[in-house]
Amino acid sequence: MPEFIPVIGKDEIQRQLSRTAKAISTDYKGRELVLIGVLKGAFLFLADLVRQINLENIKIDFIQASSYGADTISSEKIVLKKDIDIDIRGKDVLLVEDIVDTGLTLTHLIRHLQNFGPKSVKVCAMVDKSERRETAITVDYACVAVQEGFLVGYGLDYAEDYRNLPEIYHLKL
Ligand code: IMP
Ligand code: MG
Repeated sequence: MPEFIPVIGKDEIQRQLSRTAKAISTDYKGRELVLIGVLKGAFLFLADLVRQINLENIKIDFIQASSYGADTISSEKIVLKKDIDIDIRGKDVLLVEDIVDTGLTLTHLIRHLQNFGPKSVKVCAMVDKSERRETAITVDYACVAVQEGFLVGYGLDYAEDYRNLPEIYHLKL
């Protein structure tokens, strides 16, 4: 039987989310911001985050890259499955990711988005997991930082399961 060890509870998620939303609201004041959620994992995080960001000019889009599949080991081969629809040329972009692990997915996505000529591209992640980082990526806004472990819940999946859990757990198989 898989074991679920609580890592980040509901209250802590909300607290960190509010803090992050405030920082984004301050930093992008008076600017036009395009939030790009990385499907599928960021869907809950982005939905909760945008409702707490206090900016007048926000647009939302989604992008999807290939994910882990049924494995818990990151694949180095990243394939774009869904591109953005909004024209981001000259715009401030915030890429919203569920979890940054090796950093390879984000590195690939940032490089891809740079082709459209945005004014800036920054990164917001719900979880910044540092143990296996392979690229020198900057997570500009991180809600929570963890060292290690395979996490599920609040959008994070294992083989498409457990995304609906309202809290974040360490999954031990
Ligand atoms: P990276 O390319 O290694 O940074 O991996 C990023 C992607 O792998 C994330 O967007 C997640 O979809 C997935 N991932 C990495 N770590 C975890 C985890 O602990 N739980 C669930 N998915 C994860
Ligand atoms: Mg993901």
